[in-house]
This record gives sequence, C-alpha cells and structure tokens, in this order.
Amino acid sequence: MAAPPELVVNAYSTGWLKRGFPWVYPAEVVRGTAAPGTVVRLRGEGGTALGVGIADRGWISVRRFRQDDGPVDAPLIAARVAAALRRRGNLGPDTTAYRLVNAENDDLPGIRVDVWGRVVVVAIDSPSLRALGEAAGLAAGDLLGGIDAVWLSERRDPRDVERAAAAPRCIFGDATLLDVVVHELGLAFEVRPPLGKDAGLFTDMRDNRAWMAGHWKDTRVLNLFAHTGAFSVSARHGGAGQVVSVDLSEGYLTRARRNFDLNELDPGELLAEDCFKVLDRFRRQGRRFDRVVVDPPGYSHSDAGTWQGERDWARLAAASLRVLEPGGWLIAASNLGTQSPKQFGGALQEGAERAGRELRLCHEGTPGVDHPAALHFPESRYLKFWVMEAGDVA
Ligand SMILES: C[S@@+](CC[C@H](N)C(=O)[O-])C[C@H]1O[C@@H](n2cnc3c(N)ncnc32)[C@H](O)[C@@H]1O
Repeated sequence: MAAPPELVVNAYSTGWLKRGFPWVYPAEVVRGTAAPGTVVRLRGEGGTALGVGIADRGWISVRRFRQDDGPVDAPLIAARVAAALRRRGNLGPDTTAYRLVNAENDDLPGIRVDVWGRVVVVAIDSPSLRALGEAAGLAAGDLLGGIDAVWLSERRDPRDVERAAAAPRCIFGDATLLDVVVHELGLAFEVRPPLGKDAGLFTDMRDNRAWMAGHWKDTRVLNLFAHTGAFSVSARHGGAGQVVSVDLSEGYLTRARRNFDLNELDPGELLAEDCFKVLDRFRRQGRRFDRVVVDPPGYSHSDAGTWQGERDWARLAAASLRVLEPGGWLIAASNLGTQSPKQFGGALQEGAERAGRELRLCHEGTPGVDHPAALHFPESRYLKFWVMEAGDVA
C-alpha cells in the first residue's frame, strides 16, 4: 500500500501540534496537498514527524488523529471510543442521555457521539469524516450493547460557508424509531435523537440542573429561553410553587408540555413570546420572581427584534433583574465560545448597574464529566453557568 501523502506545516503550527492541539489551518500548510478525507502524515519544516490526520478543505486543513506514525482506521477509532466510555465513569442508572465522545476532547477530532437511551447519534463536523464517524457509531453500538439504532449526522460549522450539511442517516438498526424517552436525575424527557443538537435536551446542563435541584423549593421561577422545559420540569419537581416558561417557539413549548406530562407535573404558564416583551410586561405588572433562569442561544431573530449574545447580555441581565425579588437568584448561562468569563461578568455587571442592583456570584457550574475539556484545546471551554444573588433595589 502506498504511504500516505505528506503535508509540511510552518513553525507556528509545529509548536501547537507538539502541545497537543489537533488542528492545522490552511495558512499553516507550507507544502503538499491532499483530497478531503485522505489520511495524511504531518511534518514540520525541519523534518520532525508530527503524526497522522485526515485532510479537509475549508477552514481546517487537517484534523490530527494520532501523534505517532500508526494507521487511522476502525480499530483506532474503536479504542478511542472505549477510552471515552471509561472516562465517563459511572453516570448512574438514572442517566440514560449523555455524550459518549466529545470530539477533540476525547481524541476524536470533529466527531461527537451522543447516547439517547438505546439510540446512538454520531455528529461529524465535515463530510471528510464520514468513514471514521460511521466507525465510531458502530463501535459505540458494540461497546454499549442492546442498541436499537445508530444515526450519522453532519454539523455545519458557521465558518464552513461553502457546504450544507447532509440529512441524518440511519447506519444501523431501526430507522423508524424517532421519539424516545430518556432519563436524567429521576426525571423523564422525550427527545428526537436524529435531530442532533436539536434533539430536545442539552446534556451539558445536567450537572447544573442537579446543582439547582435543592434550590427550587417554594420559589417563583421564571425560565426564559425555556426550550423543551428541562429547567422548568426540574424546578417543578424540586418544589417550585410557580413556574413560568417563555420561548419564542410554540413547537418547543409543546414538547415542554409533553415533558411535564411524562413526569406528571403541573406545567404552570407556557408563554410562546419574545423574552424581552414578557420581561417588560411583568415589570409593568409588578410581577416578581425568586429565580430567573436565562439561557439564551448565541443569536436569534423574531418580530420583536434581534438577540445577539455578544452585544445584548447587559440589556438582558438588566431586564431580568427588574423582575427579581431582592435576595432572589439570577441563573445565567452563556454558551458563546467567543465570550470569555471576564467578558460575561463584565456584561452582567453592566446590566446590574443599569438596574441599580448588586450581584454576588454564589456558584459556577461546568458541563460535567461527559463533556470533558482538553486543556490543550482551549476552544472547548464554551459554557459559563453562573448563579448570582441579587441585592436590594438601590
Ligand atoms: C439554548 S436554547 C435554551 C435551552 C434551555 N434553557 C434548556 O435548558 O433546555 C435557546 C432557546 O431560546 C429560544 N429563543 C431564542 N430567542 C428567543 C427570544 N427572543 N425570546 C424567547 N425565546 C427565544 C429558542 O427558541 C430556543 O428554544
């Protein structure tokens, strides 16, 4: 068999690859080309061997899969999936939805594997990873055993302007099994696994829901950007007296109602409206809450306007604080990887000043053991989850 083609990278990339960073960008390749999906050897300009990866086109040129010279094949992928499973330890019999492989952070660049009960979903960042993604999904199915279906889906990175993602494809088992019920911390949620990150439950928030579980009793809760209601269901289960869930999407709120029903809990108020509109109305009506959960997306657009996380956090924090009782908690989450904790804190402080309130950080959460973050891959630390007590109105 012919040796894999070689790509030579510049000194800057050599330094990063030696530190464990798994990507090579187009501007860092000084010599050599390879078609997307091809296995390539990496070398520094001085001849240092830097491992083996998969070539791509677009905003990444190579994802490195190993630092030595060995093959990138199904046995390697299966060994990495097995290591990832060991790394998860015991998530407990109560938890049947989790991330089994967190891409670069589990040494499988561009490949995520999620487990939803007896369904496995692999999401790949590029079509160049199709063969390895399939290998990861089938290995996960074998290791876990008793799996009904394995799906392969493609994520389209916003930086990947040229290509659209292909539709999810069932690569093993029963393709008709679309909605499944999963369990987390003693609660049931209905999810649709082939929808990938839109499946209906954000497993990177599990530990944060767990931390909050003992802090809902007899509170009035306003859950903004409620999605399918995971925080709302947890709050009601934890003894919240009043729960108001707000989301732009009627469809997500229908799924939230279903989640309340599954757990035989009263859904309270489900409002299909823009959060800012609701906050303004509640402020004028004098409605107040003891817990306000704000977990927005990076960007959204509706008739009421555009939400842009990079720009609008101070406005959102100020509006939320205006309906929060003194001593109440603002529970704020941001999943914008480009926003540092310092910038997040700065925006929240600005919002607090606008509302004439003081905020005190009481707890900071992380995404949990099934979403490890490799320190040699700084891009992975996207989540900020801050629980803050609000002081009196000035
Ligand atoms: C990141 S998800 C929230 C996840 C949720 N907190 C959970 O734990 O499942 C973002 C949600 O915000 C909703 N959304 C986006 N912009 C909105 C707006 N201006 N007002 C209300 N909801 C909005 C979307 O429909 C989506 O369901």
